[in-house]
Amino acid sequence: MTTDLQMDQPDKVTPLLQLSHVSISAKKMPSRLLVNDVSFTIDSGKTTCVVGESGSGKSLTALSVMGLLSKQLQLNSGKVLFNDANLGVQDLTVLSEASLQKLRGAKIAMIFQEPMTSLNPVLTVGYQIGESLTTHLGLKGSALKTRIANLLEMVGIPPGRANSYPDELSGGQRQRVMIAMSIACEPSLLIADEPTTALDVTVQAQILKLLDDLKTRMNMGMLFITHDFGVVADIADHVVVMFRGEIVESGTKAQVLSNPRHPYTQALLACVPDAEGKKALKPIDYAWLPENKARQQKLEVTV
Ligand SMILES: Nc1ncnc2c1ncn2[C@@H]1O[C@H](COP(=O)(O)OP(=O)(O)OP(=O)(O)O)[C@@H](O)[C@H]1O
Ligand SMILES: [Mg+2]
Repeated sequence: MTTDLQMDQPDKVTPLLQLSHVSISAKKMPSRLLVNDVSFTIDSGKTTCVVGESGSGKSLTALSVMGLLSKQLQLNSGKVLFNDANLGVQDLTVLSEASLQKLRGAKIAMIFQEPMTSLNPVLTVGYQIGESLTTHLGLKGSALKTRIANLLEMVGIPPGRANSYPDELSGGQRQRVMIAMSIACEPSLLIADEPTTALDVTVQAQILKLLDDLKTRMNMGMLFITHDFGVVADIADHVVVMFRGEIVESGTKAQVLSNPRHPYTQALLACVPDAEGKKALKPIDYAWLPENKARQQKLEVTV
């Protein structure tokens, strides 16, 4: 919903995040780009969903924003411009590790793809939520306890569970703890890498609603990675479709879902089953790929 306040703002505001021509490769094989010339923007209070099949480069793109690419990988080119309310626009790719650490958790937070393994089993969840509050905001004592309790309540967990260890919570609750940790310092950008894939559909729906509400309440920009078009339909403002490391299509949710232009997006959408069950689940049709087209033509000639 557009508020009057938003309508009063100028048309062209600087985006919260701007990825500009980002390319990533393995250091050992710099010529084979795992992410190839990726550019898109995220605005405050909006969600950009990145969709694409496994291995299409979604997580690497997200990790490049956080400056958390593994040591075997390198950023071949590109800029990641982050618009900080206090510091202005900064290119995260050239920031020192110390400066990045100050931003991570405080201004930019990430919910990782494997949340179940991201929690420390020997520390209480309350302690783990509190860590970034102490590091970034200097909270201690009763102020810290109150904030932890508020955060747990916000994600629908009784505050008393602050003293529980991760293995005493259900999968859905652990995922909510991860969300509480990520929003603890009220980041302006939240990156969520398939945060609901491992959860059953009812818990998934609750978590999507929670993230969507938090985004609106805190005016966060959200980069949400998924391969589920149902999720996209629920929460996206903008959609970026990746295939083999490249963006093949991007646009508003309405544009991409109702009028997909690229054959890969069309093929992806065509294999999503509908609620009435009229359209069966089917594999993606890759006939549009140049190599498949060439093979088909060759077959036709041979026959
Ligand atoms: N450390 C690494 N070294 C070499 N190649 C890597 C490394 N990490 C990822 N890759 C490769 O980069 C490509 C993109 O990986 P990425 O993890 O971004 O995919 P993804 O779109 O997130 O897939 P999924 O949906 O399965 O999570 C894949 O081909 C993957 O094998
Ligand atoms: Mg991934």
